[in-house]
Amino acid sequence: MTEMEVTEHFAGIALPGHLHTQESLHAAAAFQFRAGDVVVATYPKSGTTWMQEILTLMYSKGDGQLAKTVPNWARAPWLEHIYFKDMMQAGREPRIITTHLPCHVLAPALKKAKAKVIYVARNPKDIVVSFYHFHKMAKFLPEPSSFEDFLMQFLNGTVQYGSWFDHVEGWLSQRSELDLFYITYEDLHREPRLGHPFLGCALRPEEVSAIQQHSSFSAMQKNAMVNYTLVSCDILDHSKGQFMRKGRTEGSRGGGLPSSQITPRPRQLCSLRPRSAPLCRPG
Ligand code: A3P
Repeated sequence: MTEMEVTEHFAGIALPGHLHTQESLHAAAAFQFRAGDVVVATYPKSGTTWMQEILTLMYSKGDGQLAKTVPNWARAPWLEHIYFKDMMQAGREPRIITTHLPCHVLAPALKKAKAKVIYVARNPKDIVVSFYHFHKMAKFLPEPSSFEDFLMQFLNGTVQYGSWFDHVEGWLSQRSELDLFYITYEDLHREPRLGHPFLGCALRPEEVSAIQQHSSFSAMQKNAMVNYTLVSCDILDHSKGQFMRKGRTEGSRGGGLPSSQITPRPRQLCSLRPRSAPLCRPG
C-alpha cells in the first residue's frame, strides 16, 4: 500500500484517506443543513459530476460562465472531504452540497433542516466497470489485481465507499422521510427533467437547450472544470485513463434502467451476482 492509499473507516465503510479524515467525517455528520440547501447524494460513479453540472447550469439559467470557470468541487463540494469548509466560503445560493456518505449518517440533519436531496442511482453493472477503471487511474485507491477480483469486492461491499446495495437501499428507504428527488443516470440520458418543480427553478426552452448543450458528455469531456484534468498526475494518473470515460449505459439491455426499476430493494436487481457470492441477503 502506498502512502496515498491510506484508508479511513467511518460508519461501517472504508473511505480514501487522501480525501477524508476522522475530523472531516465527524464534521460532516454534525453539519447543520439549511432549508435552501440542495444535496446531491450518490454512490461513486453514478453520475455525480453530471448532476453537479446540471444543477450549476440550472441555477445559472443555462449560462455556462460559472461551469466553465470554477471546478465542480468548488461549486458543489463534497461534505465529507477535508477541504469542504474552505470551499463553502464562496457563499453561493442555493448551496449545492455533494455527498457519497450513507444515508443514516445524514438523514436526521437533512430531515430537521428540510434540505432538498437529489439521489442519483445508476445501473451497478456500469458502476462496477466505471469504478474499476477509476481505480486504475486514482492513486488514492487500491490498484485492483483483476476485474474479476474487483467485481467480487464490489459485490461483497468491501470496496471503498462500501456496498452499492446498502447505499441505494439506505437512501431510498428514507424517501418518504426526506425531501428527496430520485433520478437515475439512465433517466438523465433519456429525460433529465430539467427545471423540475422540485428545484423551484422554472426554465425557458432556450435555457433548457443551453443546459443540455453545456452538460452533454462531449462538452463536459472538454471542460477542464469537470473532466478532472486539473488534478495532478500524482493523484490521478491521466496516462491510465480519463475521468470522462464513455458516459454510456451499457450494462442494461434496452438502453438503461428508468428510476422506477431501481427500487428500495436493489438486491433484487442483482442478476449479476455470482452464485458463490453470498451477497443477496433477503431484502
Ligand atoms: P463512465 O466511466 O462509465 O464513462 P461520477 O461523477 O459519479 O464519478 O460518475 C462518473 C461517470 O459519469 C463516468 O462514467 C462519466 O463518464 C459519467 N458522466 C459524467 N458526465 C456525463 C455526461 N454528461 N453524460 C454521460 N455520462 C457522464
